[in-house]
Amino acid sequence: MTQATKFDPRLAPIAQYVKSMASPQAFYSEKAGKVRAERVNGVVTLYRFDDIIRVNRHPAILGNGGQGGSFGNDNPLIPLEIDGEDHKKWRKLLDPLFGPKQMAPLEEQIRTLAGELIDKFASRGHAELHDEFCEPLPSLTFLRLVGAPIEDLDFFLDFKNGVIHPEGDTVEEIEANMAVAGGKLLEYFVNYLAERRKDTEQKNDVIGILLRSEVDGKPIEELDLLNIMFLLMFAGLDTITSSLSCIFAWLGQNPEARDRLIADRSLLPAAIEEILRYESPVPAGQRHATADIDLGDGLVIKAGEAIHAIWAAANVDPTHYDNPLEVDFNRGRAPNMVFASGTHRCLGSHLARMELRVALEEILNRIPDYQVPAPEDLVYDNVSVRTVTKLPVTFTAS
Ligand code: HEM
Repeated sequence: MTQATKFDPRLAPIAQYVKSMASPQAFYSEKAGKVRAERVNGVVTLYRFDDIIRVNRHPAILGNGGQGGSFGNDNPLIPLEIDGEDHKKWRKLLDPLFGPKQMAPLEEQIRTLAGELIDKFASRGHAELHDEFCEPLPSLTFLRLVGAPIEDLDFFLDFKNGVIHPEGDTVEEIEANMAVAGGKLLEYFVNYLAERRKDTEQKNDVIGILLRSEVDGKPIEELDLLNIMFLLMFAGLDTITSSLSCIFAWLGQNPEARDRLIADRSLLPAAIEEILRYESPVPAGQRHATADIDLGDGLVIKAGEAIHAIWAAANVDPTHYDNPLEVDFNRGRAPNMVFASGTHRCLGSHLARMELRVALEEILNRIPDYQVPAPEDLVYDNVSVRTVTKLPVTFTAS
């Protein structure tokens, strides 16, 4: 496969195989144990943690943009589909906007919102946790953070579903559907940015800061702003929702582990990290080699080859982790591939970790005995982002 040839990881055989599995972890783990790498439809598929780490850090590797845009926008999304010095430049601008210091002041606001959402269902004794909590908490938090209108939440959710979970059985169908969703968002932001430029108030949300920022000594160009906002709106709106749905489902199905967290909240950061490792909300990514890359022991990725890096397999790779299928809160802070690694490592990990912790604290405070259906009675979607699409729970009303 040449660099110009497109493949869509969502249509890869492995993505289709695990598509609706409630528990794909054993499959991923066995794969990583038995198969180091394989060429599937001409794409090098990597399963092992150590190989993927090396690829992600390699100077001859391009990220998602190695084959052009993949999310219904003809222009490269910033920073996901940009590489090299340009990528560094954009991350230097964006990293401080999502750093730990910038995220810390949001904690109380997130806690208040979580409490308000729980207030709406606590006395009922049952809730649809995905729709009533996992979706609104991160979405409303993110819209406030970036400075996008909260009243347009449904429009943004339709957009992110349209580009992350597009309908279609072929690359062409998927691309056409994503382009429709993407086109609507671009039109929206052309108008919204024009409004914001007229605003005389110096707002300190992400859009306000970007409108006042300079790159290479000049204000950021309109097209670049649109390509940043396009990526932020789906990266920020989907992943924490999906992670919450997986974590709540797992804890509900493992009440002894949940009881440990109820008894000792100091375990929460390690527990969240460990459940994320096991659940791998973002299961895979793509990379592109610009030169031959020798990974040792005869495994050479050739210049121009596309790579499908299965983060979810690396996270349960038995050649890297002891007892990878055991969710062990005492595992310690061993690195994982939840937020990828290297150049394109997730920009939003500080926000994600803090928000997941606050959300869990509030749910464990208010509805600690919530019951969830068995895994086989829940609908999981493992393509693009692993999520539990509906999460009906029952609990002692208060
Ligand atoms: C638990 C929640 C999250 C998970 C599991 C997650 C996972 C990931 C992964 C695996 C990547 C690498 C993608 C690739 O290279 O193919 C990534 C990149 C990225 N994430 Fe996240 N993410 C999460 C939350 C967020 C949030 C809340 C934001 C919003 C700021 C965000 C923004 C980004 C951006 C902008 C990139 C591209 C970084 C680059 O290319 O330099 N993520 N994320």
